[in-house]
Amino acid sequence: MGEMDNRSDSGDTGDLGAVDGVRNAKGERDANGGRDLRSVRDGRLAGFEIPRIGMGTMALAIEGRPDRETAIETIHAALDEGVRYLDTAWSYYLPSRPGTGEPEDLGYGERLVRDALASWDGPRERVLVATKTGYRRTCEAVAAGGKAGASGASGASAADVSRETPDAKNTAKPARQHLRAVGSCYGWMADSRPETMIRDAKESAAHLGVEALDLLYSHGPDPAVPYADQVGALRDLLDAGVIRYAGISRVNREQIDIARAILGDKLIAVQNQFSPSHPDPEHTLEYCEQLGLAFVCWSPLGGFLDPVDQHAYDPFREVAAKLGVSHQRVTLAWELAQCPRLFTIPSARNPQEIHDSFAATRLELTPDDLARLNASVATRRQAMAAGM
Ligand SMILES: NC(=O)c1ccc[n+]([C@@H]2O[C@H](COP(=O)([O-])OP(=O)(O)OC[C@H]3O[C@@H](n4cnc5c(N)ncnc54)[C@H](OP(=O)(O)O)[C@@H]3O)[C@@H](O)[C@H]2O)c1
Repeated sequence: MGEMDNRSDSGDTGDLGAVDGVRNAKGERDANGGRDLRSVRDGRLAGFEIPRIGMGTMALAIEGRPDRETAIETIHAALDEGVRYLDTAWSYYLPSRPGTGEPEDLGYGERLVRDALASWDGPRERVLVATKTGYRRTCEAVAAGGKAGASGASGASAADVSRETPDAKNTAKPARQHLRAVGSCYGWMADSRPETMIRDAKESAAHLGVEALDLLYSHGPDPAVPYADQVGALRDLLDAGVIRYAGISRVNREQIDIARAILGDKLIAVQNQFSPSHPDPEHTLEYCEQLGLAFVCWSPLGGFLDPVDQHAYDPFREVAAKLGVSHQRVTLAWELAQCPRLFTIPSARNPQEIHDSFAATRLELTPDDLARLNASVATRRQAMAAGM
């Protein structure tokens, strides 16, 4: 591939800074003004020196997923384009029957990533694969007529977080948190008991066909498990060599502090929701920047499971129309401009989408456009923070 080695020994997540005379990962120089694009688009994560646009593979593995062949073609297109960070999770699968899934359902998303990498003709060892543990999928019983049953998902939203009532006869059984998406019979259930996280992480390594996971995130806080215990499972996995680096997801500042105290410099990344429609009202991005942690944006284009307030993207559409590109590309370029330690992992369901999204690594917004977009998002952020 003629690519420079993008792996370094340090797990440090620092930006690369302006590196004079160094070419980008494909050995190119920025055609526009001769400035080195690598300093703008690349970052360090888990010992890899990679473009800060990766790809989330959730949309290839859960409801609405394309067929397996298209999914593999999409991952190959991403890798050919230059993507070197693939994001997956133990829970990216669909249960074939009511419950949390049959053995043959589990690991669909992670196996997809493994198979795509195995059949790709590029340097697999230069691709950071991150996965997550602590959630599983659920599928409600579907009654005759196609409607969800008594405990079904209809009408509920993913923002609705319900707690399963503990079995009255067995109060020792912990209540599990459930999240549901509108219009889907599938949901998510938090299960971050340390024993579950440790078992699932080992399964993730087996699904991905690796001895040690490059980067494992706890998928999200589980209200039935003290956060320190959940992070303690990551510590145990690090000590046992099952994972090389740890990350945490869906967290606030307090949880970041708890994780830092337990994981020290092995905690390298926080994966939180960040986009123009969900602009991180708790300012965890700034907190990560201050602490030197990578910030990885989930649902950077607004996501597809929940309704998205499209008005948040109006200013992005205006800039996009002026530049003759998609508003998704402008959104991702705007995200990259927020902080040099920011990584963004858009989903794609076909090669065209990731081709379009990755081109954001070559799109530099003017200071005026950036200021305008920043102002529109800041207004929304303040309004959200005020409503919190
Ligand atoms: N940590 C967590 O709890 C968590 C939660 C959610 C997501 N994630 C991660 O974040 C990743 C991305 O988030 P997401 O899947 O919610 O959605 P997203 O990246 O915000 O993308 C939403 C949708 O936008 C469309 N799209 C993507 N690129 C496009 C382009 N260039 N032009 C036009 N449309 C485009 C795709 O839908 P269509 O194909 O329908 O057009 C895509 O599914 C996931 O894959 C996952 O890895 C993590």
